Amino acid sequence: MISEPTARADVRTRRGEPLPADLLDDAERMSREEVRDLQLRRLRQTLRHAYENVELYRKKFDGAGVTPDDCRTLEDLARFPFTTKVDLRETYPFGMFAVPMPEVRRIHASSGTTGRPTVVGYTENDLSNWADLVARSIRAAGGRPGHKVHISYGYGLFTGGLGAHYGAERAGCTVIPASGGMTARQVQIIQDFEPEIIMVTPSYMLTLLDEFERQGVDPRASSLKVGIFGAEPWTEEMRREIEERMDIHAVDIYGLSEVMGPGVAQECVETKDGLHVWEDHFLPEVVDPLTGESLADGTEGELVFTSLTKEALPVIRYRTRDLTRLLPGTARTGFRRIEKITGRCDDMIILRGVNVFPTQIEEVVLRTPGVAPHFQILLTKRGRMDHMTVRVEARPGAGPEQRESAGRAIAKGVKDGVGISVEVAVVEPESLERSLGKLRRVKDQREA
Ligand code: DLL
Repeated sequence: MISEPTARADVRTRRGEPLPADLLDDAERMSREEVRDLQLRRLRQTLRHAYENVELYRKKFDGAGVTPDDCRTLEDLARFPFTTKVDLRETYPFGMFAVPMPEVRRIHASSGTTGRPTVVGYTENDLSNWADLVARSIRAAGGRPGHKVHISYGYGLFTGGLGAHYGAERAGCTVIPASGGMTARQVQIIQDFEPEIIMVTPSYMLTLLDEFERQGVDPRASSLKVGIFGAEPWTEEMRREIEERMDIHAVDIYGLSEVMGPGVAQECVETKDGLHVWEDHFLPEVVDPLTGESLADGTEGELVFTSLTKEALPVIRYRTRDLTRLLPGTARTGFRRIEKITGRCDDMIILRGVNVFPTQIEEVVLRTPGVAPHFQILLTKRGRMDHMTVRVEARPGAGPEQRESAGRAIAKGVKDGVGISVEVAVVEPESLERSLGKLRRVKDQREA
């Protein structure tokens, strides 16, 4: 249920136009205490639903010596076993579904770059909750009924396209289901259809931005006011780059298929200070990625989610592999925030004993003049030593001297900020592979 606009500080577009006052739904107005009460009730139901209907959960709970009745407080959840991607793979395709197949209305799957994909299912209620939460996310980003939303997340088994699509419809917006690819045509459509909102991976936004410029169209003059970017890690430096070049608000949306899809957490446009987790539907924890020990709010570790309302695929303490910290709510005080995701445990590069995330390289590259925000990390072996080369594109028009000094500045920035020596190759404009969706930044050639 959507209530009347509240009197809140004006949110303005970067061009200074005010966005209408916020529309908050009832859950967004709950106090922290009310959220916790709701969570406990829903958590106990979810544990029972999982235990009674999924063999894997029954075995895991029995193995750990716990039953759903042992959960009397939210803190008791820490006694329950974790769930991982391996559990989903081993029960491929539908072994973790908790409802009979005829009640499953839709299936999505992860791309499964290694091994079997993970398959997820949704009942009618699950799909409706998902649409509600994406709609809430779009409103938190500044989207309003009547706005046109251009969706460039891929449609298909990936949750990005259809997840955004039904959420935008639920928000009362007009959807332009562009999906990924055909970049030149997308730019044309944006010019002709004049959407206010774009939903796309940040890396594909850069591809679109380059295409605007290639066509001689000023991206700052487009109709777009807000970009809702997610599905891959991105940095504050990337936010600045996109906001400057497009004259839009760039906000972060987070989610993963196993937990739902996009719309698990969303950054509010008025604060841009991390993403509020929609805690009426998902209970977040942060744990030590190595020991699994629960960590206090404010400490960085691996994000873990328990679903609170999902019917077809309840997840109990699902290990996301994503690294972040939990922080108190700001724009929505009943819900906690997660800080922008640093990266996945799996993406961490250990170079000569130092842990490095691609986002740390992104921060350095994007604040260096003379180079474009397109870079690639190449890992090779030199003798027995691991070696990292950062390949980064020169900005068009940057001369040899500027390229050389940019290369030196990046190497120094990485040495000073991250503590590793890297080689930097400043390459020709437009010579690196462009993103069409989720970008793979790291090319690991160490095995070869
Ligand atoms: O990427 C769902 C999604 C679609 C989220 C569109 C946002 C927008 P998966 O393909 O299952 O689902 O991949 C989930 O992507 O565990 C993170 O590692 C990463 N990820 C998603 N959103 C963000 C974000 C979708 N905002 C995996 N920042 C997650 C950083 C993100 N990483």
